[in-house]
Amino acid sequence: MASGKILIVDDDRNLLEVLRVRVESAGYEVTTVTNEDDALAAARNDTFDLSIVDLQLERTDGITLMQELRLMTPDLPVIILTAFGTIDSAVRAVKKGAYGYLTKPFNPQELFSNIEKALENSQLTREISQLKGLLEEEYGSPNIIAKSEKMHQILTVVSRVAPSDSTIYIGGESGTGKEVIAKAIHVASTRKDKPFIALNCAALPESLLESRLFGHEKGAFTGAVQSTKGLFMQAHKGTLFLDEIGDMSLPIQAKVLRVLQERAFYPIGSDKLIEVDTRVIVATNKHLEDEVKKGLFREDLFYRIHVIPIYLPPLRERKEDLPPLVDYFLERLNKQMKRQIKGLTPEAMKKIMLHDWPGNVRELENTLEYAAAMARGDLITEEFVFPPRRGSSEEPLKPLKEARDAFERGYLIKLLEACRGNVSEAADLAGRYRTDFYALMKKHNLNAADFRRPS
Ligand SMILES: Nc1ncnc2c1ncn2[C@@H]1O[C@H](COP(=O)(O)OP(=O)(O)OP(=O)(O)O)[C@@H](O)[C@H]1O
Ligand SMILES: [Mg+2]
Repeated sequence: MASGKILIVDDDRNLLEVLRVRVESAGYEVTTVTNEDDALAAARNDTFDLSIVDLQLERTDGITLMQELRLMTPDLPVIILTAFGTIDSAVRAVKKGAYGYLTKPFNPQELFSNIEKALENSQLTREISQLKGLLEEEYGSPNIIAKSEKMHQILTVVSRVAPSDSTIYIGGESGTGKEVIAKAIHVASTRKDKPFIALNCAALPESLLESRLFGHEKGAFTGAVQSTKGLFMQAHKGTLFLDEIGDMSLPIQAKVLRVLQERAFYPIGSDKLIEVDTRVIVATNKHLEDEVKKGLFREDLFYRIHVIPIYLPPLRERKEDLPPLVDYFLERLNKQMKRQIKGLTPEAMKKIMLHDWPGNVRELENTLEYAAAMARGDLITEEFVFPPRRGSSEEPLKPLKEARDAFERGYLIKLLEACRGNVSEAADLAGRYRTDFYALMKKHNLNAADFRRPS
Protein backbone atom coordinates (compact mmCIF):
# COMPACT_ATOMS: atom_id res chain seq x y z
CA MET A 1 0.00 0.00 0.00
CA ALA A 2 1.19 3.49 -0.81
CA SER A 3 1.75 5.99 1.96
CA GLY A 4 2.06 9.74 2.28
CA LYS A 5 0.02 12.75 3.32
CA ILE A 6 -1.63 14.63 0.51
CA LEU A 7 -3.36 18.02 0.62
CA ILE A 8 -5.94 18.55 -2.15
CA VAL A 9 -7.23 22.05 -2.90
CA ASP A 10 -10.15 22.60 -5.31
CA ASP A 11 -13.25 24.79 -5.14
CA ASP A 12 -15.34 22.19 -6.94
CA ARG A 13 -16.72 20.17 -4.03
CA ASN A 14 -17.88 17.27 -6.17
CA LEU A 15 -14.55 16.81 -7.80
CA LEU A 16 -12.86 17.17 -4.43
CA GLU A 17 -14.95 14.32 -3.03
CA VAL A 18 -14.22 12.08 -6.01
CA LEU A 19 -10.52 12.77 -5.62
CA ARG A 20 -10.57 12.10 -1.91
CA VAL A 21 -12.21 8.69 -2.35
CA ARG A 22 -9.85 7.66 -5.14
CA VAL A 23 -6.66 8.82 -3.50
CA GLU A 24 -7.60 7.44 -0.09
CA SER A 25 -8.42 4.06 -1.55
CA ALA A 26 -4.88 3.91 -2.89
CA GLY A 27 -3.64 4.14 0.69
CA TYR A 28 -2.72 7.81 1.04
CA GLU A 29 -3.84 10.05 3.89
CA VAL A 30 -5.90 12.85 2.38
CA THR A 31 -6.92 16.32 3.56
CA THR A 32 -9.26 18.28 1.30
CA VAL A 33 -9.98 22.02 1.40
CA THR A 34 -11.87 24.33 -0.94
CA ASN A 35 -9.88 27.57 -0.68
CA GLU A 36 -6.40 28.94 -0.14
CA ASP A 37 -6.92 30.18 3.42
CA ASP A 38 -7.94 26.73 4.57
CA ALA A 39 -5.05 25.26 2.61
CA LEU A 40 -2.52 27.48 4.38
CA ALA A 41 -4.13 26.75 7.75
CA ALA A 42 -3.92 23.01 7.07
CA ALA A 43 -0.27 23.30 6.05
CA ARG A 44 0.48 25.20 9.24
CA ASN A 45 -0.95 22.40 11.37
CA ASP A 46 0.37 19.43 9.48
CA THR A 47 3.29 18.40 7.28
CA PHE A 48 2.26 17.19 3.84
CA ASP A 49 4.30 15.14 1.41
CA LEU A 50 2.46 16.38 -1.65
CA SER A 51 -0.22 18.84 -2.65
CA ILE A 52 -2.66 18.71 -5.56
CA VAL A 53 -3.89 22.23 -6.34
CA ASP A 54 -6.46 23.54 -8.76
CA LEU A 55 -5.11 26.24 -11.01
CA GLN A 56 -8.14 28.51 -10.60
CA LEU A 57 -8.90 29.31 -6.99
CA GLU A 58 -11.16 31.90 -5.37
CA ARG A 59 -8.66 34.53 -4.29
CA THR A 60 -5.60 33.84 -6.38
CA ASP A 61 -4.33 31.06 -8.59
CA GLY A 62 -2.73 27.69 -7.91
CA ILE A 63 0.74 28.97 -8.68
CA THR A 64 0.57 31.64 -5.98
CA LEU A 65 -0.79 29.14 -3.50
CA MET A 66 2.03 26.76 -4.40
CA GLN A 67 4.54 29.48 -3.62
CA GLU A 68 2.85 30.31 -0.32
CA LEU A 69 2.78 26.64 0.69
CA ARG A 70 6.47 26.36 -0.12
CA LEU A 71 7.28 29.11 2.34
CA MET A 72 6.29 26.59 4.99
CA THR A 73 7.49 23.39 3.28
CA PRO A 74 10.29 24.42 0.90
CA ASP A 75 10.47 21.28 -1.25
CA LEU A 76 6.77 20.39 -1.24
CA PRO A 77 5.95 18.74 -4.57
CA VAL A 78 2.81 20.22 -6.16
CA ILE A 79 0.65 18.82 -8.94
CA ILE A 80 -1.56 21.40 -10.65
CA LEU A 81 -5.09 20.59 -11.82
CA THR A 82 -6.25 22.52 -14.82
CA ALA A 83 -9.39 22.70 -16.88
CA PHE A 84 -9.13 21.92 -20.54
CA GLY A 85 -8.00 25.03 -22.42
CA THR A 86 -5.69 26.47 -19.79
CA ILE A 87 -2.68 24.35 -20.60
CA ASP A 88 -0.52 27.44 -21.14
CA SER A 89 -0.84 28.43 -17.51
CA ALA A 90 -0.23 24.84 -16.47
CA VAL A 91 3.02 24.87 -18.36
CA ARG A 92 3.86 28.16 -16.66
CA ALA A 93 3.21 26.45 -13.33
CA VAL A 94 5.69 23.71 -14.17
CA LYS A 95 8.27 26.34 -15.09
CA LYS A 96 7.73 27.88 -11.69
CA GLY A 97 8.47 24.57 -10.04
CA ALA A 98 5.26 22.53 -10.00
CA TYR A 99 6.02 18.85 -10.33
CA GLY A 100 3.45 18.38 -13.11
CA TYR A 101 -0.10 19.07 -14.16
CA LEU A 102 -3.24 17.09 -14.92
CA THR A 103 -6.02 18.29 -17.19
CA LYS A 104 -9.58 17.75 -16.07
CA PRO A 105 -11.21 15.33 -16.59
CA PHE A 106 -8.14 13.22 -15.82
CA ASN A 107 -7.77 9.51 -15.84
CA PRO A 108 -7.02 7.79 -12.56
CA GLN A 109 -4.02 5.95 -13.97
CA GLU A 110 -2.36 9.20 -14.85
CA LEU A 111 -3.26 10.70 -11.49
CA PHE A 112 -1.65 7.86 -9.56
CA SER A 113 1.45 7.66 -11.67
CA ASN A 114 1.94 11.41 -11.16
CA ILE A 115 1.47 11.09 -7.41
CA GLU A 116 3.86 8.18 -7.14
CA LYS A 117 6.56 9.79 -9.24
CA ALA A 118 6.27 13.12 -7.43
CA LEU A 119 6.60 11.44 -4.04
CA GLU A 120 9.53 9.32 -5.14
CA ASN A 121 11.21 12.35 -6.63
CA SER A 122 10.81 14.39 -3.50
CA GLN A 123 12.16 11.55 -1.40
CA LEU A 124 15.29 11.50 -3.59
CA THR A 125 15.64 15.27 -3.38
CA ARG A 126 15.41 15.05 0.37
CA GLU A 127 18.05 12.33 0.62
CA ILE A 128 20.42 14.18 -1.68
CA SER A 129 20.05 17.47 0.14
CA GLN A 130 20.71 15.73 3.45
CA LEU A 131 23.86 14.19 2.02
CA LYS A 132 24.97 17.56 0.63
CA GLY A 133 24.33 19.09 4.04
CA LEU A 134 26.60 16.51 5.67
CA LEU A 135 29.35 17.11 3.11
CA GLU A 136 29.05 20.84 3.52
CA GLU A 137 29.35 20.50 7.28
CA GLU A 138 32.47 18.41 6.82
CA TYR A 139 34.25 20.33 4.07
CA GLY A 140 32.70 23.78 4.31
CA SER A 141 31.52 23.47 0.69
CA PRO A 142 29.20 21.17 -1.25
CA ASN A 143 32.29 19.23 -2.42
CA ILE A 144 30.42 16.99 -4.88
CA ILE A 145 28.93 18.62 -7.92
CA ALA A 146 26.06 16.55 -9.22
CA LYS A 147 23.57 18.17 -11.53
CA SER A 148 22.96 15.34 -13.97
CA GLU A 149 20.31 12.71 -13.44
CA LYS A 150 23.09 10.08 -13.48
CA MET A 151 24.94 11.73 -10.62
CA HIS A 152 21.69 12.23 -8.70
CA GLN A 153 21.17 8.51 -8.84
CA ILE A 154 24.70 7.92 -7.59
CA LEU A 155 24.18 10.29 -4.67
CA THR A 156 20.94 8.57 -3.75
CA VAL A 157 22.73 5.24 -3.64
CA VAL A 158 25.51 6.84 -1.58
CA SER A 159 23.09 8.21 1.00
CA ARG A 160 21.24 4.90 1.20
CA VAL A 161 24.25 2.62 1.58
CA ALA A 162 26.38 4.89 3.75
CA PRO A 163 24.84 3.93 7.12
CA SER A 164 25.37 0.18 6.68
CA ASP A 165 28.69 -1.57 7.14
CA SER A 166 28.62 -3.29 3.76
CA THR A 167 31.63 -3.29 1.53
CA ILE A 168 31.17 -0.90 -1.39
CA TYR A 169 32.66 -1.31 -4.84
CA ILE A 170 33.28 1.82 -6.88
CA GLY A 171 34.04 1.41 -10.56
CA GLY A 172 34.66 4.05 -13.18
CA GLU A 173 37.27 5.52 -15.47
CA SER A 174 40.24 7.39 -14.14
CA GLY A 175 39.37 10.82 -12.74
CA THR A 176 35.60 10.27 -12.48
CA GLY A 177 35.56 10.93 -8.74
CA LYS A 178 35.85 7.48 -7.17
CA GLU A 179 37.78 8.76 -4.18
CA VAL A 180 35.39 11.67 -3.75
CA ILE A 181 32.48 9.23 -3.56
CA ALA A 182 34.34 6.93 -1.15
CA LYS A 183 34.89 9.88 1.20
CA ALA A 184 31.27 10.92 0.87
CA ILE A 185 30.17 7.45 1.96
CA HIS A 186 32.42 7.70 4.99
CA VAL A 187 31.20 11.19 5.88
CA ALA A 188 27.56 10.12 5.58
CA SER A 189 28.10 7.08 7.80
CA THR A 190 28.17 6.74 11.57
CA ARG A 191 31.93 6.22 11.26
CA LYS A 192 32.52 9.80 10.16
CA ASP A 193 34.38 10.84 13.32
CA LYS A 194 36.75 7.89 13.03
CA PRO A 195 39.61 7.62 10.51
CA PHE A 196 39.16 7.43 6.76
CA ILE A 197 42.33 5.85 5.42
CA ALA A 198 43.05 5.58 1.71
CA LEU A 199 45.63 3.29 0.20
CA ASN A 200 46.58 2.97 -3.44
CA CYS A 201 47.26 -0.74 -3.92
CA ALA A 202 49.05 -0.17 -7.24
CA ALA A 203 51.66 2.11 -5.71
CA LEU A 204 53.39 -0.45 -3.49
CA PRO A 205 55.33 -3.64 -4.16
CA GLU A 206 53.68 -6.78 -2.82
CA SER A 207 55.65 -7.27 0.39
CA LEU A 208 55.33 -3.65 1.41
CA LEU A 209 51.61 -3.64 0.64
CA GLU A 210 51.13 -6.68 2.85
CA SER A 211 52.84 -5.12 5.84
CA ARG A 212 51.05 -1.80 5.30
CA LEU A 213 47.69 -3.54 5.35
CA PHE A 214 48.20 -6.02 8.15
CA GLY A 215 51.16 -4.68 10.10
CA HIS A 216 54.02 -6.80 11.34
CA GLU A 217 55.81 -7.91 14.48
CA LYS A 218 59.28 -6.70 15.28
CA GLY A 219 61.72 -9.04 13.57
CA ALA A 220 59.08 -10.57 11.26
CA PHE A 221 61.44 -10.01 8.33
CA THR A 222 64.78 -8.34 7.67
CA GLY A 223 64.34 -4.65 8.31
CA ALA A 224 61.33 -5.06 10.59
CA VAL A 225 63.03 -3.30 13.47
CA GLN A 226 59.79 -2.25 15.09
CA SER A 227 56.35 -3.74 15.12
CA THR A 228 53.75 -1.69 13.24
CA LYS A 229 49.99 -1.48 13.18
CA GLY A 230 48.49 -2.21 9.80
CA LEU A 231 45.95 0.01 8.09
CA PHE A 232 43.11 -2.41 8.82
CA MET A 233 43.87 -1.75 12.47
CA GLN A 234 44.42 1.99 12.08
CA ALA A 235 41.04 2.28 10.37
CA HIS A 236 39.33 0.37 13.20
CA LYS A 237 35.76 1.74 13.62
CA GLY A 238 36.42 3.87 10.54
CA THR A 239 36.75 3.25 6.82
CA LEU A 240 39.57 1.78 4.78
CA PHE A 241 39.57 2.77 1.11
CA LEU A 242 41.49 0.34 -1.08
CA ASP A 243 42.09 2.14 -4.36
CA GLU A 244 43.06 0.22 -7.50
CA ILE A 245 42.26 -3.08 -5.87
CA GLY A 246 42.60 -4.74 -9.27
CA ASP A 247 46.36 -4.36 -8.93
CA MET A 248 46.57 -6.35 -5.72
CA SER A 249 48.48 -9.63 -6.04
CA LEU A 250 46.69 -12.95 -5.60
CA PRO A 251 48.25 -13.86 -2.22
CA ILE A 252 47.24 -10.51 -0.73
CA GLN A 253 43.78 -10.87 -2.22
CA ALA A 254 43.45 -14.09 -0.24
CA LYS A 255 44.37 -12.34 2.98
CA VAL A 256 42.01 -9.46 2.34
CA LEU A 257 39.20 -11.91 1.64
CA ARG A 258 39.82 -13.53 5.01
CA VAL A 259 39.60 -10.18 6.81
CA LEU A 260 36.35 -9.37 5.05
CA GLN A 261 34.89 -12.73 6.00
CA GLU A 262 36.18 -13.08 9.51
CA ARG A 263 36.77 -9.49 10.54
CA ALA A 264 40.07 -10.65 12.05
CA PHE A 265 43.62 -11.28 10.86
CA TYR A 266 47.17 -12.09 11.97
CA PRO A 267 49.83 -9.39 11.49
CA ILE A 268 52.92 -10.67 9.67
CA GLY A 269 55.04 -12.77 11.99
CA SER A 270 52.47 -12.76 14.75
CA ASP A 271 50.23 -15.52 16.08
CA LYS A 272 47.93 -13.10 17.86
CA LEU A 273 44.61 -12.79 16.07
CA ILE A 274 43.51 -9.19 15.81
CA GLU A 275 39.81 -8.40 15.52
CA VAL A 276 38.81 -5.28 13.64
CA ASP A 277 35.63 -3.42 12.83
CA THR A 278 36.71 -1.70 9.64
CA ARG A 279 34.43 -0.79 6.79
CA VAL A 280 36.04 -1.42 3.44
CA ILE A 281 35.41 0.53 0.25
CA VAL A 282 37.27 -0.56 -2.86
CA ALA A 283 37.75 1.14 -6.21
CA THR A 284 39.15 0.19 -9.56
CA ASN A 285 39.20 1.46 -13.11
CA LYS A 286 39.84 -2.07 -14.37
CA HIS A 287 37.12 -4.31 -15.63
CA LEU A 288 37.39 -6.74 -12.74
CA GLU A 289 35.13 -9.38 -14.31
CA ASP A 290 37.75 -9.71 -17.05
CA GLU A 291 40.53 -9.93 -14.50
CA VAL A 292 38.60 -12.77 -12.84
CA LYS A 293 38.32 -14.57 -16.17
CA LYS A 294 42.05 -14.12 -16.76
CA GLY A 295 42.79 -15.63 -13.36
CA LEU A 296 44.31 -12.41 -12.07
CA PHE A 297 41.58 -11.64 -9.59
CA ARG A 298 40.02 -14.12 -7.17
CA GLU A 299 36.44 -14.85 -8.03
CA ASP A 300 35.41 -15.31 -4.38
CA LEU A 301 36.90 -11.94 -3.46
CA PHE A 302 35.19 -10.34 -6.43
CA TYR A 303 31.79 -11.56 -5.23
CA ARG A 304 32.60 -10.58 -1.68
CA ILE A 305 33.36 -6.97 -2.62
CA HIS A 306 30.83 -6.61 -5.40
CA VAL A 307 27.79 -6.63 -3.11
CA ILE A 308 26.99 -2.95 -3.64
CA PRO A 309 28.55 -1.74 -6.86
CA ILE A 310 28.55 1.94 -7.79
CA TYR A 311 29.65 2.75 -11.32
CA LEU A 312 30.62 6.35 -11.93
CA PRO A 313 29.72 7.48 -15.43
CA PRO A 314 32.44 9.21 -17.48
CA LEU A 315 32.10 12.98 -17.75
CA ARG A 316 31.28 12.83 -21.47
CA GLU A 317 28.07 10.99 -20.59
CA ARG A 318 26.92 13.69 -18.19
CA LYS A 319 27.82 16.97 -19.81
CA GLU A 320 25.15 18.82 -17.80
CA ASP A 321 27.65 18.59 -14.95
CA LEU A 322 30.24 20.62 -16.88
CA PRO A 323 28.93 24.18 -16.25
CA PRO A 324 28.47 23.72 -12.48
CA LEU A 325 31.84 21.94 -12.26
CA VAL A 326 33.47 24.84 -14.07
CA ASP A 327 31.91 27.31 -11.61
CA TYR A 328 32.97 25.16 -8.68
CA PHE A 329 36.60 24.85 -9.78
CA LEU A 330 36.86 28.53 -10.73
CA GLU A 331 35.63 29.55 -7.31
CA ARG A 332 38.21 27.29 -5.71
CA LEU A 333 40.99 28.51 -8.02
CA ASN A 334 40.07 32.14 -7.33
CA LYS A 335 40.56 31.49 -3.63
CA GLN A 336 43.82 29.59 -4.11
CA MET A 337 45.33 31.98 -6.62
CA LYS A 338 43.79 35.12 -5.12
CA ARG A 339 42.21 35.95 -8.44
CA GLN A 340 38.82 37.24 -9.45
CA ILE A 341 38.04 35.31 -12.58
CA LYS A 342 34.35 35.66 -13.34
CA GLY A 343 33.97 32.92 -15.89
CA LEU A 344 34.64 31.81 -19.44
CA THR A 345 33.92 33.54 -22.72
CA PRO A 346 31.15 31.81 -24.71
CA GLU A 347 33.76 30.41 -27.14
CA ALA A 348 35.84 29.00 -24.30
CA MET A 349 32.76 27.41 -22.76
CA LYS A 350 31.83 25.93 -26.10
CA LYS A 351 35.24 24.29 -26.32
CA ILE A 352 34.69 22.81 -22.87
CA MET A 353 31.26 21.50 -23.82
CA LEU A 354 32.49 19.91 -27.05
CA HIS A 355 35.53 18.16 -25.62
CA ASP A 356 35.29 14.45 -24.79
CA TRP A 357 37.17 14.54 -21.45
CA PRO A 358 38.98 11.19 -21.53
CA GLY A 359 40.63 12.18 -18.23
CA ASN A 360 37.22 13.11 -16.78
CA VAL A 361 36.82 15.52 -13.86
CA ARG A 362 40.53 15.53 -13.08
CA GLU A 363 41.32 16.60 -16.65
CA LEU A 364 38.75 19.40 -16.35
CA GLU A 365 40.28 20.53 -13.09
CA ASN A 366 43.77 20.65 -14.60
CA THR A 367 42.55 22.35 -17.76
CA LEU A 368 40.93 25.11 -15.71
CA GLU A 369 43.95 25.53 -13.51
CA TYR A 370 46.12 26.08 -16.56
CA ALA A 371 43.59 28.40 -18.17
CA ALA A 372 43.18 30.43 -14.98
CA ALA A 373 46.93 30.79 -14.58
CA MET A 374 47.24 32.00 -18.16
CA ALA A 375 44.21 34.30 -18.23
CA ARG A 376 45.05 37.96 -18.02
CA GLY A 377 41.69 39.58 -17.45
CA ASP A 378 38.77 38.34 -15.43
CA LEU A 379 37.48 36.08 -18.20
CA ILE A 380 39.06 32.89 -19.50
CA THR A 381 39.40 33.02 -23.26
CA GLU A 382 39.34 30.03 -25.60
CA GLU A 383 43.05 30.16 -26.53
CA PHE A 384 43.93 28.97 -23.02
CA VAL A 385 41.31 26.29 -22.67
CA PHE A 386 43.74 23.56 -23.65
CA PRO A 387 47.47 23.72 -23.05
CA PRO A 388 49.43 23.67 -26.30
CA ARG A 389 50.61 20.19 -27.19
CA ARG A 390 54.29 19.56 -27.48
CA GLY A 391 55.27 18.55 -31.05
CA SER A 392 52.21 17.77 -33.12
CA SER A 393 53.69 14.52 -34.44
CA GLU A 394 53.84 13.19 -30.91
CA GLU A 395 51.32 10.57 -29.89
CA PRO A 396 48.52 12.01 -27.79
CA LEU A 397 49.13 11.49 -24.09
CA LYS A 398 47.52 8.35 -22.77
CA PRO A 399 45.94 8.00 -19.35
CA LEU A 400 48.54 6.88 -16.79
CA LYS A 401 47.03 3.42 -16.50
CA GLU A 402 47.25 2.74 -20.24
CA ALA A 403 50.73 4.19 -20.46
CA ARG A 404 51.83 2.03 -17.54
CA ASP A 405 50.34 -1.11 -19.12
CA ALA A 406 52.01 -0.39 -22.44
CA PHE A 407 55.33 0.12 -20.72
CA GLU A 408 54.88 -3.06 -18.67
CA ARG A 409 54.18 -5.14 -21.76
CA GLY A 410 57.19 -3.75 -23.65
CA TYR A 411 59.38 -4.36 -20.62
CA LEU A 412 58.25 -7.99 -20.29
CA ILE A 413 58.90 -8.65 -23.96
CA LYS A 414 62.42 -7.23 -23.71
CA LEU A 415 63.12 -9.33 -20.61
CA LEU A 416 61.79 -12.53 -22.14
CA GLU A 417 63.81 -11.94 -25.28
CA ALA A 418 66.96 -11.33 -23.26
CA CYS A 419 66.36 -14.55 -21.29
CA ARG A 420 65.26 -16.53 -24.34
CA GLY A 421 61.96 -17.47 -22.76
CA ASN A 422 63.47 -18.69 -19.49
CA VAL A 423 60.83 -17.49 -17.02
CA SER A 424 62.84 -18.16 -13.82
CA GLU A 425 65.69 -16.08 -15.15
CA ALA A 426 63.39 -13.30 -16.36
CA ALA A 427 61.56 -13.25 -13.02
CA ASP A 428 64.88 -13.04 -11.21
CA LEU A 429 66.01 -10.10 -13.30
CA ALA A 430 62.70 -8.33 -12.71
CA GLY A 431 62.94 -9.01 -8.99
CA ARG A 432 59.62 -10.83 -8.95
CA TYR A 433 58.49 -14.24 -7.80
CA ARG A 434 58.03 -16.71 -10.62
CA THR A 435 54.31 -17.02 -9.94
CA ASP A 436 53.90 -13.26 -10.07
CA PHE A 437 55.85 -13.13 -13.25
CA TYR A 438 53.63 -15.77 -14.79
CA ALA A 439 50.60 -13.74 -13.74
CA LEU A 440 52.07 -10.67 -15.43
CA MET A 441 52.73 -12.66 -18.61
CA LYS A 442 49.19 -13.92 -18.54
CA LYS A 443 47.86 -10.42 -18.11
CA HIS A 444 49.66 -9.33 -21.27
CA ASN A 445 48.92 -12.52 -23.13
CA LEU A 446 52.58 -13.47 -23.48
CA ASN A 447 53.82 -17.01 -23.98
CA ALA A 448 57.30 -18.09 -22.90
CA ALA A 449 57.53 -20.58 -25.77
CA ASP A 450 57.41 -17.72 -28.28
CA PHE A 451 60.73 -16.47 -26.96
CA ARG A 452 62.63 -19.77 -26.79
CA ARG A 453 65.46 -19.89 -29.25
CA PRO A 454 68.47 -22.19 -29.28
CA SER A 455 71.43 -20.31 -27.79
N1 LIG B 1 31.51 15.35 -8.75
C1 LIG B 1 32.60 16.03 -8.43
N2 LIG B 1 32.50 17.26 -7.91
C2 LIG B 1 33.61 17.96 -7.61
N3 LIG B 1 34.87 17.53 -7.79
C3 LIG B 1 35.03 16.31 -8.30
C4 LIG B 1 33.92 15.50 -8.65
N4 LIG B 1 34.39 14.33 -9.14
C5 LIG B 1 35.71 14.41 -9.12
N5 LIG B 1 36.12 15.59 -8.61
C6 LIG B 1 37.52 16.05 -8.47
O1 LIG B 1 38.25 15.48 -9.55
C7 LIG B 1 39.49 14.96 -9.13
C8 LIG B 1 39.55 13.47 -9.40
O2 LIG B 1 38.68 12.79 -8.53
P1 LIG B 1 39.08 11.41 -7.82
O3 LIG B 1 40.47 11.44 -7.35
O4 LIG B 1 38.03 11.11 -6.82
O5 LIG B 1 38.94 10.46 -9.09
P2 LIG B 1 39.27 8.91 -9.21
O6 LIG B 1 38.13 8.30 -9.95
O7 LIG B 1 39.62 8.36 -7.88
O8 LIG B 1 40.52 8.92 -10.18
P3 LIG B 1 41.69 7.79 -10.37
O9 LIG B 1 41.06 6.61 -11.02
O10 LIG B 1 42.64 8.48 -11.27
O11 LIG B 1 42.22 7.52 -9.02
C9 LIG B 1 39.62 15.30 -7.65
O12 LIG B 1 40.36 16.49 -7.52
C10 LIG B 1 38.19 15.53 -7.21
O13 LIG B 1 38.13 16.47 -6.17
MG1 LIG C 1 41.45 7.55 -7.24
